[in-house]
Amino acid sequence: MAPASEGAPRRILIDTDPGVDDAMAIFYALASRELEVVGLTTVFGNAHVEVCTANAIRILDIAGRPDIPVAQGAARPLAMPYRGPADFVHGANGLADVTLPPPSRAPHPLDAAHFIIEQVDAAPGEITLVPVGPLTNIALAFLLRPDLPSKLAGIVLMGGNAFVPGNASPAAEANILNDPEAADLVLGADCPITMCGLDVTEATVMSSAQIATISEMGNPRARLAAQILPFYRDFHVAHGGPDGIHVHDSTCISYLLAPQHYGVRHHPVRVDTGWSVGRGKTWPTTRHALSEGPWAGRRAVTILTEVDAPAVVALELTRLSRP
Ligand code: BDR
Ligand code: CA
Repeated sequence: MAPASEGAPRRILIDTDPGVDDAMAIFYALASRELEVVGLTTVFGNAHVEVCTANAIRILDIAGRPDIPVAQGAARPLAMPYRGPADFVHGANGLADVTLPPPSRAPHPLDAAHFIIEQVDAAPGEITLVPVGPLTNIALAFLLRPDLPSKLAGIVLMGGNAFVPGNASPAAEANILNDPEAADLVLGADCPITMCGLDVTEATVMSSAQIATISEMGNPRARLAAQILPFYRDFHVAHGGPDGIHVHDSTCISYLLAPQHYGVRHHPVRVDTGWSVGRGKTWPTTRHALSEGPWAGRRAVTILTEVDAPAVVALELTRLSRP
């Protein structure tokens, strides 16, 4: 992928479950003139969907972007009950238990799947979907409109683990485990798909020392980031992670802005939708013929496998510091 250029903003629609790192990714995108955020859609995940919707609107309030619509989406996965909020990671309110003013407005009247369809139909070939939560809304949009993938510029998603262990189970990454059936459907769509998974997001660390610099930046986005990141960092430290945070959702934005900082591999991917220990594992084909078995006929996914972590963390911090 060519880097997004300053002259022609790439139009993105972020599907999100805010979420501390979701908030960071949204702020990062909004501070990047190479990207135009046409809307946010929300999904259950880090918190119940109503909480995620309120948080998405609050995040836009803080960023001073009342013009960006927020459409609420799925409350539960396609084929199982919701596993429940990740309050130990993101706080009971999804934003590190920081008290925030109520959201300034109601969500868009359309549900997320129909909003996605409306946006893509209005600009065929232009919209890149950036899902950073469970893939339920995207799957529902594709089920409603099987031709939709052909009208997308592409999908750049945070989720999955190709060649490393999971974070929500030994097998699976959290967004994929939250709706494996949706993930298998979306990763099989016939459009350019980039998977920003744990292979690179756990290799990208924003250190406690770097987090401490955010409080000196002085803009409203950075002020919220400085309030919510310590809770998220404490989760990483308490669970054997780094002295800092893994940079998950923002990786999609870094890849759109600066793909030269990533190494990639291209393989069709299936998701384990069985009801056993491997549920939610993303499986790339590697040594096997593409025409064989469950991967037959699936288009290769661009899987991020290497990252220049200092470069992308520096880029995100620079963008966050913009007034
Ligand atoms: C993903 O899970 C969520 O907790 C984060 O917001 C991110 O999207 C990381 O596995
Ligand atoms: Ca997320």
